[in-house]
Amino acid sequence: MVRYHEAYLPPMTHALHYGTACFEGIRAYWNAAHEQLYVLQAEPHYARLRRSAAILRLDVPHSNQELVDLTLEILRRNQSRTDTYIRPLVFISEEEIGVRLHGLKRSFLIYTAPMGEYIDTQGGIRCATSSWRRVADSAIPARAKITGAYVNSALAKSEALENGFDEAIMLTHDGHVSEGSAENLFMVRDGVFVTPSVTEDILEGITRALLMGLIRDELGLPVVERSIDRTELYACDELFLCGTGAQVSAVVEVDRRKIGNGAVGTLTRRLQEIYFRAVRGEEPRYRDWLTPVYG
Ligand SMILES: Cc1ncc(COP(=O)(O)O)c(C=O)c1O
Repeated sequence: MVRYHEAYLPPMTHALHYGTACFEGIRAYWNAAHEQLYVLQAEPHYARLRRSAAILRLDVPHSNQELVDLTLEILRRNQSRTDTYIRPLVFISEEEIGVRLHGLKRSFLIYTAPMGEYIDTQGGIRCATSSWRRVADSAIPARAKITGAYVNSALAKSEALENGFDEAIMLTHDGHVSEGSAENLFMVRDGVFVTPSVTEDILEGITRALLMGLIRDELGLPVVERSIDRTELYACDELFLCGTGAQVSAVVEVDRRKIGNGAVGTLTRRLQEIYFRAVRGEEPRYRDWLTPVYG
């Protein structure tokens, strides 16, 4: 454990130059009434980190349980008493020029920082289909959360923001809907929730999996994983993005076409309400999503 300003990364660090690292983004939610900080889906995030690392031929130097325990210790030492973001990173730390994955020194770090909303979750956001295609599994696998691949997200996000939208929706190379720059996507058509399947160059989102459960168990509605055409987004009744950062964010407009009546959808609103209660420890039946930090 070192203080933030005492952590030293040499300028030649491989990952800084070649994007040879993988990471996670985890949220912890502060509940003032409970005087408790709850880490959301700690173990599944570390399980995914391990899968990302395996794809990059990196290994994670601790068991998932040890990583969860380390995370709790950092949060306690930082005396985090507000909504917080946790960022684990496994990276090639060799100070060497030249690209490869094997036979190089690797390092691991975790930091935490306070974090509120990443994108709006109240009013509904306006999205644009990106002119940038999602990285293909055959180029840089999106299912592994690889730092270098986030250049793809950054290109799409900046294009969207600079064109006056809130977020980008990326298509796959064959033109199907993939995901947002840092969010998975769901649409509702005729009472059925539809989300791109895991073969559509998406990150296999942990929030996506939680919401699929809530849709079935709380709303009693079906969820289908399949390919989605771009123009299905224009024709759907409701649309939302989800992710650890984004949480559940309603999309009210895509490519200047209103979704539904242009307001946050009723089903989306219900899902948001349950989700936000669950992540803050206010739904006893979903307490197993959470790891309490204090006491
Ligand atoms: C590209 C991308 N897709 C989807 C997600 C959502 O994944 P998760 O719900 O596991 O945070 C993220 C991360 O938040 C992401 O970076």
